[in-house]
Amino acid sequence: MNNNSPIGFFDSGVGGLSVYARFKKLLPNENTIYYGDLKNLPYGNKTQAELIGFTKNIMDFFVTKDVKAVVIACNTSSALAYETIKDDYDFKIYPIIQASAKLISKMDIKRLGVFATVGTVNSGAYKREILKHNSDILIKEIACPNWVSVVEGKISNGTDEIKKHVEEMFEFAPDKVILGCTHYPYLINDLIKFAPKDMFIDPAKYFVKFIKDDLIKSDLTTVGTEKFYVSANPELFMNNAKMFYNVEMVEEV
Ligand code: DGL
Repeated sequence: MNNNSPIGFFDSGVGGLSVYARFKKLLPNENTIYYGDLKNLPYGNKTQAELIGFTKNIMDFFVTKDVKAVVIACNTSSALAYETIKDDYDFKIYPIIQASAKLISKMDIKRLGVFATVGTVNSGAYKREILKHNSDILIKEIACPNWVSVVEGKISNGTDEIKKHVEEMFEFAPDKVILGCTHYPYLINDLIKFAPKDMFIDPAKYFVKFIKDDLIKSDLTTVGTEKFYVSANPELFMNNAKMFYNVEMVEEV
């Protein structure tokens, strides 16, 4: 494994792409692999033992791909499996809840809501991780068992499902609500029918920043590869290019 090795991302389905897309914007030159565990979807209603099994299988798949890091772009796996598997691999593992909670807990929030899967809510992982950094925040977690099926196209009209949980959350009068499942940002157009957009926090925003900073700090980033060819005057080209781009090598062909 070296800096050019890929970074693995995984989730039960398309949810993790909400993390992946943000990451690619931040570090576009990284080599990446995405794994969607559609066979075992949804994760949210599985037992902890099952979640540990799924997560280990995916981690072992990533071992065969010689990854330099794995991003657990799944809250449920971060909540129920990360602690068990975290020391079993010799590459970095980034879990979404633990990594983003630190940054979210620094926001000016008194009352914080969390929408998540049944597994994540029952684990109490968000509450525990946020309170670790800021014990003054009052937190209410609500499980939304059908939202993943709405996103994955298994339930056609999810509006009532969404309304039901948003109304329940609003009785708590939250300042902000975490979308604590990577599938939920896909529902933003429905969610904003019932609440202003800035009410919702997508942890992926903080998560990818954490990953970027850590990769840089650990000297694990890559710049990818780029090649420049010119048909004449390579030095002149390099010199003139400086205004827009630092071209380090040009080949004349
Ligand atoms: N998107 C995942 C999460 O963040 C899993 C959802 C599911 O499959 O139930 O929790």
